[in-house]
Amino acid sequence: MPATVVVGAQWGDEGKGKIVDLLAQHSDVVCRYQGGPNAGHTIVVGDETFKIRAAPSGVISGKVSVIGAGCVVDPEVLIDELDELDARGIDTSKVVVSGNAHLIMPWHIAIDQASERRLGKLQIGTTRRGIGPCYADKASRIGIRVQDVLDPKILRQKIEVALAEKNVWLERVYEVEGFDLDEVATRYEGYARTLRQIVGDTSLLVDEALTAGKDVLFEGAQATLLDLDHGTYPFVTSSNPIASGAATGIGIGPTRIDRVLGVAKAYVTRVGEGPFPSEIEGSNQERLRNLGGEFGTVTGRSRRCGWLDLVALRYAVRVNGLTSLALTKLDVLSDFDELPVCVAYRLRDGSQTPHFPAHQSDFHHATPVWETLAGWREAIDGAASRMELPEPARRYVEFVERELKVPVELVGVGAGRQHVLA
Ligand code: IMP
Repeated sequence: MPATVVVGAQWGDEGKGKIVDLLAQHSDVVCRYQGGPNAGHTIVVGDETFKIRAAPSGVISGKVSVIGAGCVVDPEVLIDELDELDARGIDTSKVVVSGNAHLIMPWHIAIDQASERRLGKLQIGTTRRGIGPCYADKASRIGIRVQDVLDPKILRQKIEVALAEKNVWLERVYEVEGFDLDEVATRYEGYARTLRQIVGDTSLLVDEALTAGKDVLFEGAQATLLDLDHGTYPFVTSSNPIASGAATGIGIGPTRIDRVLGVAKAYVTRVGEGPFPSEIEGSNQERLRNLGGEFGTVTGRSRRCGWLDLVALRYAVRVNGLTSLALTKLDVLSDFDELPVCVAYRLRDGSQTPHFPAHQSDFHHATPVWETLAGWREAIDGAASRMELPEPARRYVEFVERELKVPVELVGVGAGRQHVLA
């Protein structure tokens, strides 16, 4: 299957990095199609751990690694990341960035931080990396793109125009310091030296790869429920992580996509604010958090933990057109006698639904309808195939398949590459 999209099926942090890393071994090109350094993918290779924020996870395997037009690029983060990987012996020479991707500028980060502060209790809980303000400028058609740094005159002009407005906004509305034109322009002219070497026509590159029958992997950042249009708005990111975002974010037609693999944890986590029906009440939440090491890669924040939510996953199957699932971190559940799974939501009028509510207040007030499955209480990280899992663990996976009507193609039972069972 030449074109595969890998997409987070929950609220992010499902372990996509590891799955992408695994599939990248058999791919020729790996692409990021949306998001920016709000993503944080952890990849364990042997005894080395890589934390990737800006580049596609395929970079670890030295693959052609594309950052598409739908992405937002913080040049400082990207360049530091590539330098660090180079220093660790990873070949980053095949990274290509779309000239149409938008640049995160210092004021985007300042506005993200100030706006969250100002929202107080109503804050979204963003990663404060400038993602939302950068996409907002893109939609307002006042953004600065990667290709703009290629011409110092255009770059300076665009920064000057932007600062004339952003500084007023920062100083008068948010009461924080503005930015100096010369300082920002010099800094970004410096980044241009690296960006110039890696900018390319990524839509054409991917099109040609597909036409030549090469294997291309599209790596979603964030996840389905954080999608700007189809997620739990306003507690979402500002781009489209869902599978169709791969087509718009890279610049290929949707008919080119052959396969969509959803990645879901065997339980659920969520960072930031917003409703979370299957969130665990009581001490099991902290127990699960510690067992699963559920602390943010980018922000270090504690992740909220819940039992598996099949209503939300059913929705992910629908909006992404998932053709299969990878169920990660099944080993983390090995410590529990019983495993509640949310199979439906009970709504305010007492009715039950298997479907994700279309209206926010229904979702806000939804409570889970549980079905309790048996735990297995034994280590499973030594299993070499799905057949070697203890029976209750196999039943857990089969239950997910039956409820969602989608095959579970991969099962994660530990941190390393060898811990993914096909
Ligand atoms: P932003 O993407 O920084 O604007 O944050 C918006 C929302 O998306 C917040 O709830 C973040 O916690 C969440 N978010 C963004 N990136 C990730 C991620 O990689 N994993 C999990 N949540 C994320």
